[in-house]
Amino acid sequence: MDSKIKRIGVLTSGGDAPGMNAAIRAVVRSSIYYNCEVVGVIRGYAGLINKQFMGMQSHSVSKIISQGGTILKSSRCPEFRQPDVRKQCVDNMEEAGIDALIVIGGDGSFRGANELFKEFDFPVVGIPGTIDNDIYGTDYTIGFDTAINTAVSAIDKLRDTADSHNLVFFVEVMGRDAGFIALNTAIATGAEAVLLPEVPTNLKSLCDYLLNERRKNKTSGIVIVAEGDKEGGAVEIAAKVKRRLPDYETRVTTLGHIQRGGSPSCNDRVLASVLGHGAVRALLDGRSGVMIGMVHNEIAYTSFDMACSRHSEINKSWYDVSHILSL
Ligand code: ADP
Ligand code: F6P
Repeated sequence: MDSKIKRIGVLTSGGDAPGMNAAIRAVVRSSIYYNCEVVGVIRGYAGLINKQFMGMQSHSVSKIISQGGTILKSSRCPEFRQPDVRKQCVDNMEEAGIDALIVIGGDGSFRGANELFKEFDFPVVGIPGTIDNDIYGTDYTIGFDTAINTAVSAIDKLRDTADSHNLVFFVEVMGRDAGFIALNTAIATGAEAVLLPEVPTNLKSLCDYLLNERRKNKTSGIVIVAEGDKEGGAVEIAAKVKRRLPDYETRVTTLGHIQRGGSPSCNDRVLASVLGHGAVRALLDGRSGVMIGMVHNEIAYTSFDMACSRHSEINKSWYDVSHILSL
């Protein structure tokens, strides 16, 4: 393979996601396999600014495939939005002999990567890593599978208490702009209702539904609330329902960041490994300004422009399925 790229930088940016380490491992090992050096950038774009670079060898990524979080650490870095700061980053990479960059993160991170590509023609490829699964150009993002499994096991436990005490639980799951986590966990746990950013929430219908459930002798319930629901988070929704149904005993649980942590699932490890290898190949084959994804089990490339301007959509018919199956 004849490429001018001899040293590849890799960073993780935005919210961490289980499987990011597996992706780093794949980038490092694949680069070495194709006779390139690898430089790890610490704390995402902040590390490009501060020249926090670390040479990586094969042993640097030993045994990390099973670890959550990211050994390179991550950050949100508002300074990177300034063009002069990005110019400094490119200068820093050139000084360190970094010829190309792999960015593992969400759509915000790809917006930053796209600027490097467009402003400086710097070779960059993105790998989708976020638990939210909301990135256009891939069926699944790294971390989503682990996050939904974490949420499902937590909600199964809440169900025991809901049943034992005749409670209605409002469980908030992550998903700032998208309801993938909420919808999948609702189906998998047999939740009585699910509230998503993509579907307008009608509190009257929800309360009518809960009343009807009680008439059918269902004494407890689980309502999954996506963090980004327009009607409010789980605390707010539970309070509004309680005002309409004062006899109902309700509880609220916010699953929060436990969804972001933990050992990645098999699916996330495999996805991260295949995409990590594919990202190195893509750079060496001359691709840049693209995100690598998996569509119908095949590698797919999507320009950063598209990946950042579009959104992956939930399957609305699955919403109906979740409702039908909770009757
Ligand atoms: P995620 O990648 O998980 O969506 P963020 O939206 O926080 O997370 O984005 C991660 C980082 O990407 C930001 O902290 C910032 O450094 C960079 N970034 C986001 N949007 C832009 C932008 N429009 N221009 C340049 N950099 C950006
Ligand atoms: O993007 C992933 C995510 O977990 C969202 O679901 C959530 O809204 C956000 O990150 C929270 O991020 P942080 O705690 O880093 O502000």
